[in-house]
Amino acid sequence: MYQTLLTELEQGILTATVNRPDKLNALNRSVFDDLNAMMDQVDTDPAIRGVILTGSGPKAFVAGADISEFNQLSKEEAMALAKRGQDCFFRLERSRKPIIAAVNGFALGGGCELAMSCHIRLASENARFGQPEVNLGLIPGYGGTQRLTQLIGKGRAMELMMSGNMLNAADAHRVGLVNHVFTADSLLEESKKLLMTILAKGPNAVGRVIAAVNAAGAPDEAGYKEEVRLFGECFGTPEMQEGVGAFLEKRTPKFS
Ligand code: COA
Repeated sequence: MYQTLLTELEQGILTATVNRPDKLNALNRSVFDDLNAMMDQVDTDPAIRGVILTGSGPKAFVAGADISEFNQLSKEEAMALAKRGQDCFFRLERSRKPIIAAVNGFALGGGCELAMSCHIRLASENARFGQPEVNLGLIPGYGGTQRLTQLIGKGRAMELMMSGNMLNAADAHRVGLVNHVFTADSLLEESKKLLMTILAKGPNAVGRVIAAVNAAGAPDEAGYKEEVRLFGECFGTPEMQEGVGAFLEKRTPKFS
């Protein structure tokens, strides 16, 4: 049914694994189609009571948007791409059923943005977080400028997004980007344990907690719209062509 997601439903918990390990689970069109189809299922299937989202293989949760899809986009197409990503991630964030990200490796760019749209993040010791889009002459486009600022504060968010540096799991825990850190072997089990605790509570009350907390964090969507506009502005510029070109040619970019 899914091209790029492995799913398993057990005791009301849907475990969904983004499955493109040879590309470090990068988010291409197919992954977005599958995430939207998964949310259709989550929204309508009463057998699904909560979700754990993770990545395939030992190295990555999701290493970002698929950079190979960026190359030939016009500004308008880039804005549509960002809007598609934002809309998909809003669906996760606004789900009334709890969604936990089990971050089992690199969560970079769109991968960090995906994790941040989940209600709770748990990480393995080898997890790495970052918004390295500036290396590509780009900015985050799937809500990262908004959610990272909400989660870790303006100064820290500015530093991460302007430097492109990564946070290890311990630092991500220290700044509140993840709630707990576990060994790689125990991450899924611990994620299920926490989700089972939540699923034992009143499901409508849990759904209302999600809605109320979301209302505190995001009074309106103006910031998300501005992110789409600024993401679009990057496209077709020499800076972006050098950054994306350098990644695809496996070399360090030279920005003037
Ligand atoms: N989009 C497309 N392909 C990606 C990708 C992405 N975001 N991230 C990794 N890949 C691909 C690599 O191109 C490589 O493919 P290949 O084997 O066909 O050449 C494969 O996944 C493995 O990645 P590789 O770079 O060889 O692994 P590494 O261990 O040396 O480095 C990272 C890991 C995560 C540091 C590195 O892959 C990276 O910097 N990825 C991009 C991160 C990023 O900028 N994300 C934001 C995008 S907006």
